[in-house]
Amino acid sequence: MSRIAILPSAVADQIAAGEVVERPASVVKELVENALDAGAASIDVVVEAGGRALVRVSDDGSGMSRDDAVLALARHATSKIRSADDLVGVRSFGFRGEALPAICSVSHLDIETATADGEGTRVSAAGGAVQEVRDAARRRGTTVSVARLFYNAPAREKFMRSVRSEWRGISDAVVTAALVRRDVRFTLLHDGRPALALPSAPSLRSRVAAIFGARYADGLVEVDDVAGAVRVCGLVERPADVGTASRRVFVIVNGRAVRDVGVVRAAEAAYRSTLPSGVRPSLFLDLTVPADEVDVNVHPAKAEVRFRDRWTIERAVERAVRRALGTPDSAADVGRAWQRSVLTLDAPAPFGDGAERTALRVDAPVADGLFAQNDGLTATAALATAVEPEEEIVVPPLLQLRRTYLLFERDDGVVLIDQHSAHERVLYEQFMGALERGESPSQRLLFPLTLHLGPAHGDAFDEHRDLFARLGFEIEGFGGHTLLVHSVPTPHPRFDAERCLRETLDTLTGDRHAGVHARHERLAATVACKAAIKAGDALSPEEMRALFVALARTTLPAHDVHGRSTIVQLGWDEIDRRFGRK
Ligand SMILES: Nc1ncnc2c1ncn2[C@@H]1O[C@H](COP(=O)(O)OP(=O)(O)O)[C@@H](O)[C@H]1O
Ligand SMILES: [Mg+2]
Repeated sequence: MSRIAILPSAVADQIAAGEVVERPASVVKELVENALDAGAASIDVVVEAGGRALVRVSDDGSGMSRDDAVLALARHATSKIRSADDLVGVRSFGFRGEALPAICSVSHLDIETATADGEGTRVSAAGGAVQEVRDAARRRGTTVSVARLFYNAPAREKFMRSVRSEWRGISDAVVTAALVRRDVRFTLLHDGRPALALPSAPSLRSRVAAIFGARYADGLVEVDDVAGAVRVCGLVERPADVGTASRRVFVIVNGRAVRDVGVVRAAEAAYRSTLPSGVRPSLFLDLTVPADEVDVNVHPAKAEVRFRDRWTIERAVERAVRRALGTPDSAADVGRAWQRSVLTLDAPAPFGDGAERTALRVDAPVADGLFAQNDGLTATAALATAVEPEEEIVVPPLLQLRRTYLLFERDDGVVLIDQHSAHERVLYEQFMGALERGESPSQRLLFPLTLHLGPAHGDAFDEHRDLFARLGFEIEGFGGHTLLVHSVPTPHPRFDAERCLRETLDTLTGDRHAGVHARHERLAATVACKAAIKAGDALSPEEMRALFVALARTTLPAHDVHGRSTIVQLGWDEIDRRFGRK
C-alpha cells in the first residue's frame, strides 16, 4: 500500500488556515480587508472574548449573490484576479482566495449578504462544510460572523494567548486598516463596549488624532516629498518628543500596510544626530511607488512586500524624513502645538550635498563672522566657509535671557533658542563638513600649547589623529604622549582648546570599533559639544545675530545633537488662551 496520500480538502484547508489565520486578529484583518475590497464605506467590527468566542464584521459593500456566497468558501475562489498576470499591480487586499475557506475550516462561519436592499442570502458552515443556505433579507452589504474559532483545531487553540493579548492584536488590526483607509468609517466593539468610533477622515493627521488623541497628532511633523517615481508622505515624531509616548510604527506601501525593516531603518537614519542612540521614533509612513516596482505576493498574510529597487525606495524615505525634520515645524512647542515656521525657511535644505540650498529672505545685513573678534585668538569667521552669499536671512531683534536663551518675536508667537544647543548644532554640521569633505579654518597659535597625556588619552589621540587634523587641530607628537598643539579651530573667542581636546579625548577613549561615518559623527558631536558657547556666556548683539544666521543655515536647526530641542516656540494662540483672551 502506498504511503503517500493526497490529503482530503478539509485537512488541506486546516493546514492552510495555519498560515493565513494564526489568531483572532488575523480573522479580523482578513474580514475587514474583504469588506474594503467590496467597496465598503462603513465597517463595524464586533468581537467577544478577545475574538475567540466571536468575530463579526459588517459592511455596506457590494454584497454577494447566492452562488458567490457559497463559492466564496471554496479554496482559491476569488473574484479579484483571473490569471497570474493580474497579480502585477493588484490593488485589492485579497487575491489568493484563501481566507474564507481557511477560517471556515476551523470555526462556525456565517455569511449574510445582499447585493441590494431587502434581498439576501444566509450561508452557514462549520469545520469547512456548508450546512445551510437560505434566503435572509437585509440591507445591501455583507456580515461575516466567525464563532468558536479553532474549536476543531486543538493544536492551534493551545497557542492562543490571553484574551488581553488577542484583543490587543485585534485593535491593532482595525487601527492599521483605519490608518490605511482614512475615507472609511470604522467602529469596533469589544464585549459590548465601544473601543473605536472613527468617522471618515480627511487626512492622515485627523485619523491619527481620532485614534491616538489630538494632542499626539498635533505634535507630529508632516512628511511629504517626491523623489523620482517615489512619493513619501506621512507623519513622524519630533525628536524632542521621542520616547515620551509609546512607539508606533506604521508603513503603508501603495495602500497596503506592511512590515518593512528596511524602510523603518531608513526613516530612523534620518534622525541621526538628533537622537541619542537606542531611542527610536514613532513613524506613520505612506509610500506610493510604481506598481511594477513592488511585489505584494510574497507573504501569506500579505504583510510584507518585495521592492525591485530597495535602495532607491529607502533613500527616498530617508530624504523625505530628513527634510521634514529640517523644517522648523519639527521644533518643540510650549503648550499646545502650532504649526508655523520659525526661521522663514521657504524650503527645507536637503541633506547630503548642499547643491540646492535654502533660499531665505533678508531685511537686515548679517555680521561677517559668527563672533566678533577680540583677545589673542583672532576669530576669523569660523563659519565663513559655510556661508553662501546668495543666501539671505531675516534676523529679528534678539534678546538674551539669563545668558542662556535668545528670545525673539514672530508673527505667530515667541521663540526661544538655547544658545549652547544651537551653537552645538552649528559646529556639529561644520565639523561634519570638515571631516567628510575638507578642512576647517584654523588659527595658528603664537606659542604652541604643550599637552601631557596619560596612556589612554594618548591611544585615543593616535587613533583619531587624522580626524583632529581635519577639524583644524595641527598637532605634533613629541615623544611619549606629549603633544605640541600648533593650530586650533576657532569656533569663538572664548574657545578653550586645551580643555576641549582633553574632554574630547576623554569621550573617545576606547571608541575604536565604530564605522568611519559613525566615528566622524561621534567626534564631530563631541568636539561641537565641548567647543560650543556655554549657558552663562554673555553674547554681544553681533554674536547673537551671527548665531541666529548660522543656525538658520544648518540642515536641522530645531534639534541639537543629543535629541533635545534648540528651539522652543510659544504661539500667540497659547499665550492668549492662558491670559483668557481666547
Ligand atoms: N465582505 C464581502 N463582500 C463581498 N464579497 C466578499 C466579501 N468577503 C468575501 N467576498 C468574496 O469572497 C471571495 C473570497 O474571499 P477570500 O477567501 O477572502 O479571498 P480573496 O479576498 O483573496 O479573494 C472574494 O474574492 C469576494 O468575491
Ligand atoms: Mg480576502
